[in-house]
Amino acid sequence: MTIDEAAASDESQAMFNRQLATYRKIVGANLMFHREIYGLLNDVLSRDMARPFRFLDIACGDASASSRMLQESPVAHYYGIDLSPDSLQLASAATAILKCPAELRCCDFADAMATWTDPVDVIWIGMSLHHLQADGKARLIRHVYDALDRRGLFLIWEPTLRDGESRDEWLDRFTALRSAWAALTDEEFAAMDAHVRLADFPESPGDWIAMGEQAGFTRAEQLFLMPNRMGAVFQYWR
Ligand SMILES: C[S@@+](CC[C@H](N)C(=O)[O-])C[C@H]1O[C@@H](n2cnc3c(N)ncnc32)[C@H](O)[C@@H]1O
Repeated sequence: MTIDEAAASDESQAMFNRQLATYRKIVGANLMFHREIYGLLNDVLSRDMARPFRFLDIACGDASASSRMLQESPVAHYYGIDLSPDSLQLASAATAILKCPAELRCCDFADAMATWTDPVDVIWIGMSLHHLQADGKARLIRHVYDALDRRGLFLIWEPTLRDGESRDEWLDRFTALRSAWAALTDEEFAAMDAHVRLADFPESPGDWIAMGEQAGFTRAEQLFLMPNRMGAVFQYWR
């Protein structure tokens, strides 16, 4: 991470910590389609990972959606990584419903993945890889490839540009969500908009797929497009 990236990351993380309550409100009102996304992840795991599996939740946040999704699955070990101590405190309570050991690590996911050694079968990144620039994203996906079991699954849910769209155009589409996000106050929405403008760097579907292939994954596919077309879920096969 460069010094500029680290400074932007510190500021965006400080902003995210201040906005944790707003993010939980967004999830509660399903404004980002957590129900559909985590329902899809559950379907993929039931179909492709019937055996007991070790699950790594990169940037788990409060782990509420992951824990609910994993509650009835044969998860053998849960790992959650996040920079936010406040989120991890909530994650500690949320993961208590799991019938397996849950380990939460308070650290930067780029640092954690560069030196990751615990065997894992499923790696999931929900709405966080986009804080890195393109080279940081590519490096992280290479580390994910190295960390994952040979028969493992890797899935991401990340902000995604329309074909030919610029970041500025994507940001303007986010701002235009104001009326659909009526559950937020003007102040909450303005704070989210500022966070997104500072910290969100979406990629095109082709670039998300290419980064996986360049990391060594043999195949990558877009599984789902959010109904508001702001982001998508991608699966990568080793
Ligand atoms: C938008 S939330 C996503 C939470 C959850 N994965 C979900 O699906 O709702 C982004 C999370 O990424 C974490 N985060 C951002 N950058 C990080 C980094 N470099 N290392 C670890 N966690 C990070 C934030 O603290 C926050 O909890």
